[in-house]
Amino acid sequence: MFSKINSVGLFGLNAFPVTVEASITAGQPNFDVVGLPDTAVQESKARIRAVTGQLGLKLLNGRVTVNLAPASVKKIGSMFDLPIMIALMKLGGVIDCELSDTAFIGEMSLDGQIAPINGALSMTITAEQNGIKRLFLPKANAKEASAADNIEIYGIEHITEIVNFLQNRTLLTPEPRYIPSAERLVYREDFADVMGQTSAKKAIEVAAAGSHNILMVGPPGSGKSMLAKRIPSILPKITFAESIETTQIHSIAGLINPKEPLVTTRPFRAVSHTISGAGLVGGGTIPRPGEISLAHNGVLFLDELPEFDRRTLETLRQPLENGEILISRASGSVSYPCEVMLVAAMNPCPCGNFGNPKKKCTCTEKMVTAYLNRISQPVLDRIDIQIEVKPVEYDDLSTRKAQETSAQIAERVQRARDIQAERFKGTGIKSNSRITSDIIGDVCRLTPDADALLKSAFDGLGLSARAYDRILKVARTCADLAGIKDINKSCITQAISFRNLDRKYWNR
Ligand SMILES: Nc1ncnc2c1ncn2[C@@H]1O[C@H](COP(=O)(O)OP(=O)(O)OP(=O)(O)O)[C@@H](O)[C@H]1O
Ligand SMILES: [Mg+2]
Ligand SMILES: [Zn+2]
Repeated sequence: MFSKINSVGLFGLNAFPVTVEASITAGQPNFDVVGLPDTAVQESKARIRAVTGQLGLKLLNGRVTVNLAPASVKKIGSMFDLPIMIALMKLGGVIDCELSDTAFIGEMSLDGQIAPINGALSMTITAEQNGIKRLFLPKANAKEASAADNIEIYGIEHITEIVNFLQNRTLLTPEPRYIPSAERLVYREDFADVMGQTSAKKAIEVAAAGSHNILMVGPPGSGKSMLAKRIPSILPKITFAESIETTQIHSIAGLINPKEPLVTTRPFRAVSHTISGAGLVGGGTIPRPGEISLAHNGVLFLDELPEFDRRTLETLRQPLENGEILISRASGSVSYPCEVMLVAAMNPCPCGNFGNPKKKCTCTEKMVTAYLNRISQPVLDRIDIQIEVKPVEYDDLSTRKAQETSAQIAERVQRARDIQAERFKGTGIKSNSRITSDIIGDVCRLTPDADALLKSAFDGLGLSARAYDRILKVARTCADLAGIKDINKSCITQAISFRNLDRKYWNR
């Protein structure tokens, strides 16, 4: 006798269909599971034995073999308990219904409770793509799974619920499709709360408009963190597809709130300098996504940049360049997307007041240089916009004049993004920050006087070829914000002003 049940496995972000095949022949009772790593098999067998005992079912009276196909693919996790249990019940005639378009995933505890799993949304989407019409999974994952299209979701708390349902003794209602409430779609922090700081806000707007990475240097309390936190609120609205992508990554990391399971706003991940390389870009034996992937489609915020371990920062270079990170392990490779806007903040020196017109810096020249040199040039090279944030002026703070709202800024950002979408149609490039050297001449045309200005700056300031490209890209974004075709002088002036930290701090 033979039975077959559909399930889904997961490795990294990649879910794949798994078929659980069970067979029984007469003979000395024996229970074998093949197709899973050793330790997982032992644990799964123990749980299944316990639950069959609890339910008073005699499912293991014979030579029982369970195979998880395809055998060639590594299966990790405890989500196969439930499908194995169902396969055994089908084999033993406890249930007798058509299940070819139905799949099961879930871990069981010893008393038959179905325990939550990570990665539910990825698995649900894969199930649907493989023709599954009904999916039974842990109750705690049901809301998340219901975000997928064209598949009926049944959230289960205990194995007996499924048995009763499949034996037609009770009704189960499928999970209604989860629709996030309106308040989950808005950002709680708004640029309207930030008084003054006109030039910092302008730079941030340009950064958001072209998805340029940005570094803010300024004394303690000047509002760097406050500004950074508000950046997601001016980025284009997260699309449903982006929301699903980001949710899948958060789900694999086990960071989903079962009650509000969709990531409905652009993520803002603030990372402290004590983070490890694996914590930042991902890692572990079963590779988990790092902070840069949790920030996918949003902002990765590195506060106190010089305090980060140099090697940790170096690990960011490739992922920032590619928008994707590949983690290779003996067990296989996993890739996680990481399209992020990098936002970094730092004090200019150990005491924080270097360059502050109002307070005296107490550091020696040597200390300042050593502090700044902790950030490697290759990392700085990937940050298109670098600005100084001065402490807010008393008048700005005290008058409490109404400030521009995030919504107003976001509108201009969106318009600039629309221009970019049109420009890069069919190229795979998403924003000006990703302009490649082969097209830069074409897409960044300068008016004659803009060209003359850039030339004199290049000679006069001793700009490198890299800095030159960076200025062009940022100037392109300034022009898009202004809605003009060719880059003019004022765009170049603005773009150069976003680079003068180089000279003030790093190349003194
Ligand atoms: N422009 C501003 N408008 C209103 N409040 C401000 C402004 N700038 C700073 N503040 C207030 O000062 C607090 C400190 O700012 P914030 O923590 O962002 O500074 P920071 O530059 O990140 O400092 P640190 O270097 O210590 O991290 C803010 O939480 C806010 O209450
Ligand atoms: Mg801060
Ligand atoms: Zn100092």
